[in-house]
Amino acid sequence: MHSFGYGANALFTFSVTALAFICAIASLSDNFSNQNPSTEIQILNINRFKKQSYENDEVSLTLDITADLQSLFTWNTKQVFAFVAAEYETPKNSLNQVSLWDAIIPDKEHAKFRIQTSNKYRFIDQGHNLRGKEFNLTLHWHVMPKTGKMFADKIVMPGYSLPDAYK
Ligand SMILES: *[C@@H]1O[C@H](CO)[C@@H](O)[C@H](O)[C@H]1NC(C)=O
Ligand SMILES: *[C@@H]1O[C@H](CO)[C@@H](O)[C@H](O)[C@H]1NC(C)=O
Repeated sequence: MHSFGYGANALFTFSVTALAFICAIASLSDNFSNQNPSTEIQILNINRFKKQSYENDEVSLTLDITADLQSLFTWNTKQVFAFVAAEYETPKNSLNQVSLWDAIIPDKEHAKFRIQTSNKYRFIDQGHNLRGKEFNLTLHWHVMPKTGKMFADKIVMPGYSLPDAYK
């Protein structure tokens, strides 16, 4: 009886230690994996571009998003949250960031994709600054690990612009 209790306790201690060890290795090993995500985004069409009410410009566009985020996935990756934002400067703000599309990528098999979509969230400026506006499209991602710290990174693609006139 006595030795059984002792054995169970030792086994438990061993399991906890092993688990802690595995977690430490898991979050460490993330650091050594090579991450080289890639993406390309094209604007296929400006569907609508108008002045909404008195103040705000609104644009609706169709995007062609190609991305390969497979290298973000290790055995310690729970999921990846990705979003595409339009980023631009106005006299009032040095950075305006408007999220246009996002997705939760559950596994490596879904991390390489191509999607043609109109913006999922409304692209509205806080003013009427969008005519002829140059902007960046940025793919941001947040990697949620099974254990360890979440981390985030992005790819910035400059050189996009909006038409000079509403349509
Ligand atoms: C990798 O390790 C360094 C220092 O050991 C740490 O500063 C960095 O945030 C780690 N990177 C990731 C992706 O966990
Ligand atoms: C757009 O990208 C360029 C080049 O990476 C950068 O210099 C600029 O600050 C970016 N603009 C905004 C508003 O983030």
